[in-house]
Amino acid sequence: MDHKVFQEFREIIHRESGINLSEEKRPLLSNRIAKRIRNLGLKDEADYLRHVREDKDGEELVELLDAISTNVTYFYREDEHFKILSDIFLSWKEGNKRRVRIWCAAASSGEEPYTLAITAAEKLDLAKIDYRFLATDICTQVLNHGANGIYDEKQFKQMPNAIKTKYFTRTKGRTESAVSWQASPALREQITFKRLNLAQFPYPLKGPLDVIFCRNVMIYFDNQLRQKIVHEFERLLAPGGYLFVSRSENLLGLQTELKSIGTSVYQKGKVG
Ligand SMILES: C[S@@+](CC[C@H](N)C(=O)[O-])C[C@H]1O[C@@H](n2cnc3c(N)ncnc32)[C@H](O)[C@@H]1O
Repeated sequence: MDHKVFQEFREIIHRESGINLSEEKRPLLSNRIAKRIRNLGLKDEADYLRHVREDKDGEELVELLDAISTNVTYFYREDEHFKILSDIFLSWKEGNKRRVRIWCAAASSGEEPYTLAITAAEKLDLAKIDYRFLATDICTQVLNHGANGIYDEKQFKQMPNAIKTKYFTRTKGRTESAVSWQASPALREQITFKRLNLAQFPYPLKGPLDVIFCRNVMIYFDNQLRQKIVHEFERLLAPGGYLFVSRSENLLGLQTELKSIGTSVYQKGKVG
């Protein structure tokens, strides 16, 4: 890809999603948009750049961001977070907490919000409480995947078998020999999948939220954007609410009223 064309794509992607593509990502970008260029019958990358710029309703931008997103995820990723969360849920159950709002920001194809919902189902008495699980991402393809809830066997490597067979049903895989599993209708119904761009403020969400998971996405953003995101999380969190970032991330260098309570887990102060 021509240097100037790459710079212009970089600028659009940074402005629209906060994602910083380094110079080494030039071949990756070429690779990822090649199929889109073919499908649209366009000439080359410069032609596609023109197409993105001229697209008034922003649909092509969604396609471009879908193409460049890194969506790697799996069930029970960084599973110590789900142990911490289990303890939090048990304390809520003991304290008779009646309303629970959980948001998984940058949820990718759904493995993370399903793990959250399963942890809640195992530790809380969901029949007795008003609960909502929201899963958002910038990428529409992964959101559709999450709503369908069908996953390849390899995504389950960290999920105990008893949990897998309790919440998922074996289904046909993508090939003759492959095995896939689909989340039960009851589990799927619990989660709302919705597009939300973390780089556009304010977020169209109603708080207060009890838990926000935002893992393995802020690594792609610069400090200025991270700061804005963390302020928005502070605004939306309930007093005493929790923010989980990934083990490889932290809020060092950012201004925040959130207190660190463990590796990559933060809590908003309680009132009084
Ligand atoms: C590596 S995945 C992380 C998935 C999951 N949170 C986990 O830790 O396993 C990063 C996700 O962030 C999403 N993403 C990237 N930029 C975003 C933005 N500006 N707003 C919302 N989601 C974004 C990508 O589409 C991708 O699904």
